[in-house]
Amino acid sequence: MANLVLLVGGGVAAYKAVDLASRLTKAGHRVRAVLSQAAGRFVTPITFEAVTGEPALADLWQPGGGEAHIELARWADAMVMAPATADLIGQLAHGLARDAVGTVALASRGPVVLAPAMHHAMWAHPAVQENVARLQSFGYAFVGPERGRLASGEEGWGRMTEPAEIALAVEALLARRAAPGAGAGAAGASEESPLAGRGASGRPGAERGRDLAGRRVVVTAGPTQEPLDPIRFLTNRASGRMGFALAEAARDRGADVTLVTGPTALPDPPGVRVVRVRTAVEMRDAVAAAFDGCDAFVAAAAVADYRPARYSERKLKKSPEPMALELVPNPDVLQEMAERKRHQVLVGFAAETEEDVAEARAKLRRKRLDLVVLNDVTKPGAGFDVETNRVTLVSEDSAEALPIMTKREVADAIWDAVVLRLGARRTTRAER
Ligand code: CTP
Repeated sequence: MANLVLLVGGGVAAYKAVDLASRLTKAGHRVRAVLSQAAGRFVTPITFEAVTGEPALADLWQPGGGEAHIELARWADAMVMAPATADLIGQLAHGLARDAVGTVALASRGPVVLAPAMHHAMWAHPAVQENVARLQSFGYAFVGPERGRLASGEEGWGRMTEPAEIALAVEALLARRAAPGAGAGAAGASEESPLAGRGASGRPGAERGRDLAGRRVVVTAGPTQEPLDPIRFLTNRASGRMGFALAEAARDRGADVTLVTGPTALPDPPGVRVVRVRTAVEMRDAVAAAFDGCDAFVAAAAVADYRPARYSERKLKKSPEPMALELVPNPDVLQEMAERKRHQVLVGFAAETEEDVAEARAKLRRKRLDLVVLNDVTKPGAGFDVETNRVTLVSEDSAEALPIMTKREVADAIWDAVVLRLGARRTTRAER
């Protein structure tokens, strides 16, 4: 059980931070809330004290509050900022400490997860996106935001992730901190290494730097849609989040990224070449156009295995008779690229309903892959509609089961594995 600091920003979603505090407390953690000045307009420190049984801090200027921010930062094993407003994200990204939350966040020595919440126009602003990317490059973890109804009544990206899922992301950070090889971890992190314990695979985010600079990578994401007639199609539940997280992580590590994605509600990540396609055939063609010049290909798309044998230009009419739908196999994008593979590192996903390393390794051999990301989609915190994932990285000679992590952290762990393999191939690259 851990000591957690909950940093509460000033937004309507602050009321949900109370629920988050309650969940984390019920899970057995000690939770101390810190409220920004603006947060105090939406909720009060007393609410958090009642829910957590711990003192809450809202004002650094209260008597005896002298070094409260440093004491709290030392006490905390991890911090969670929810809601993380545009202002707080900006403060932290630029090393500013304007109130209790900014000050405690800046003094933190352990892992921090941020759950942004703001109007969609603010979230989409390049300044906010740049601040987010800057924090990610320092090793901060993000969960959300989600698309949904915002306080303004409009629909868009900016809604805070639900407390239950933020709590999962916090558990993911804590599990990683405790995992073997995770380094000193937050509690034991030294003053000299403020980011120790952050980032996936025990590798601090800052240490990764731009280790994919000069590399070209191709990522697929999302589902495909296989049309039957002008208004009907076959598809699946993939959201595209895992592939988008892979593209963003590679971009932050300096890669030239092409993201080929099926239909998804996610906005184009800045600084990434995005090719939007609909069907498996279109996806294959777009990937094929980028593949020969790339160094690594990660296939995170949930490509439909079949498509309707016939497409009807006119809407199909109903009749009282039963109707059979004939399906024909789609191209396997990953398999086709594996057949053209020269120097490239290839990574595939295997969505299983039962974790099976032997089956994943058989797929690795069949498709001539370097790595298979085995994903048990039935486990809590893994799969299609959630922000977190729980995977095992399977290669020819190893199987590394990672704890539950945010999709961004899983993405970084995958790129860590790719970087290792790219390094080993530096000499063979020259032979091309
Ligand atoms: N893939 C692809 N094109 C397809 C099908 C799959 O590129 N037409 C890629 C996926 O992006 C994923 C991997 O191949 O990286 C999944 O392989 P697949 O053999 O389809 O496995 P599963 O979907 O896990 O399941 P199954 O073998 O049981 O169909």
